[in-house]
Amino acid sequence: MFPFLNPASLLILTLAALLAPQPGSTPAKPALDYSFFKERVQPIFLAKRPGHARCVTCHDHGSPGLEPLAPGATNWNEEQSRRHFAMWKLFVVPGAPNKSPLLLHPLAKEAGGDRFHAGGKHWNSQSDPEWRVLSAWVRGQTTGDLK
Ligand code: HEC
Repeated sequence: MFPFLNPASLLILTLAALLAPQPGSTPAKPALDYSFFKERVQPIFLAKRPGHARCVTCHDHGSPGLEPLAPGATNWNEEQSRRHFAMWKLFVVPGAPNKSPLLLHPLAKEAGGDRFHAGGKHWNSQSDPEWRVLSAWVRGQTTGDLK
């Protein structure tokens, strides 16, 4: 009798097939959308918030950095926004809000955030509207999706 036809061998072969990595089973990482960042994420960095300084107040010299607004401007210009996008995308893991420092650092530990942010915990829950905007960006939402 062939050894590989006995039930134990068949079981091992079946298990090996099940455990083998399946090609294409990892979902592709979503691309981060620049317009969504500019129109929806950057305003969060500028927003005034009770009990906390604005992100931009501290991050004007911190890493990741935010540039000073031009005199009289209420928003960043195109070049500044592009540089911010290049910088801040290094602090997220596309497709994985729960692994992205941008989302975990200012999020309360009880709500799944990390241990400490020198700038304080700005969001008490993952249903905070700002947190949800950031999460949507990390998951690849585009401004086109909103229309
Ligand atoms: C009071 C000052 C202050 C404010 C306000 C502040 N931060 Fe920070 N942030 C810091 C400092 C200082 C660090 C570096 C030390 C640390 O990681 O805690 C930092 C670090 C970070 C990092 C880097 C994490 C890493 O992995 O290195 C991110 C992302 C971040 N802040 C996001 C934000 C966001 C978003 C806001 C607004 C919602 C914000 N911060 C508001 C001071 C601040």
